[in-house]
Amino acid sequence: MLTVAVLISGAGSNLRALLEAASAPDYPARIIAVGADRDAAGFAHAEEFGIPTFLVPFRQFESREAWGRELGVQLAAWKPDLVVLSGMMRLLPAELVERWAPNIINTHPAYLPEFPGAHGVRDAIAAGVAQTGASVIVVDHGVDSGPILAQERVPVLPGDDEAALHERIKPVERRLLIDVVRRIASGDIDLAAASAEASS
Ligand code: GRF
Repeated sequence: MLTVAVLISGAGSNLRALLEAASAPDYPARIIAVGADRDAAGFAHAEEFGIPTFLVPFRQFESREAWGRELGVQLAAWKPDLVVLSGMMRLLPAELVERWAPNIINTHPAYLPEFPGAHGVRDAIAAGVAQTGASVIVVDHGVDSGPILAQERVPVLPGDDEAALHERIKPVERRLLIDVVRRIASGDIDLAAASAEASS
């Protein structure tokens, strides 16, 4: 059984989808902890499912590195097999990525390498593209630049604003994330091989 820790910053709707999937008896992974860099609304989903939460408030640390060290201590205490960033809106310090790579994945609301970064949905609308997408990647030292594990196109419709497009993307993200975690747990996806292949 793959143990998973999920890191969030916001509403946690993608986290909720993963919690629901993982509550199925035949799902080969279970969520053991949910962490956040702020008092995220998504903690309510973890509490509803009886999953422990931990808060490492970014603003209480004098540097990203100090915050990352404490986050690393909290994660190490849970010893998850896999760390999932799902709406975590902070870049992780290099030493934290080093410690967990390649067993750390992220969801992104764009068809990477298109529109990386914190405003992928807004950037897609600003670019006037007819389609964008959702991606699940391995976290590396860049910004949304790691090996792509799954991605799917999502149409941009006339009149879409950022919220409408993001709400159309999220269900695709959730489905991809649930499937990627399942495939990692079942061995269909080998994260070390995916990372090695990307860096070769
Ligand atoms: C998701 O689209 C995620 O990819 C992005 O922020 C959104 C988080 O949504 N980084 P939620 O907090 O899971 O509802």
